[in-house]
Amino acid sequence: MSERTLVLIKPDGVRRGLIGDVIARIERKGLTIAAMELRQLDAETAKTHYAEHSERPFFGELVDFITSAPLVALVVEGPRAIEAFRGLAGLTDPVKSAPGTIRGDHALEIGENVVHGSDSPESAAREIKIFFPDRF
Ligand code: CMP
Repeated sequence: MSERTLVLIKPDGVRRGLIGDVIARIERKGLTIAAMELRQLDAETAKTHYAEHSERPFFGELVDFITSAPLVALVVEGPRAIEAFRGLAGLTDPVKSAPGTIRGDHALEIGENVVHGSDSPESAAREIKIFFPDRF
């Protein structure tokens, strides 16, 4: 059964020229890109997207970082797309992520870990609505 997930190539990934690398991995895996947009988030949208982290000590830093420069938002589609993309991304902590994953290959900092992927069907539906309200 096909599923959709929201993927962000975060400002560090865009700044470092990793858009092509991330998209190539998504396509190589056999997932489909159903929507894609380069945009810079305002603080309100960032806070809505990361609402579940609002009580965490790093929330301010997270919002500042994600709004600091353009990111690429994608809707990625395919069988078990949520789990499939999280496999490509690796763990939240890039140092613990295996080489061969996006974060394992490209990052060291937990706050600048190149990509975001929805973590459940409920999050995916909520996040896709934030970024592509009229499309799905
Ligand atoms: P992401 O998958 O986008 O979801 C929440 C983000 O919070 C996570 O990736 C990390 O980039 C970020 N994050 C998690 N823990 C920390 C932390 N201790 N300090 C800064 N950022 C963090």
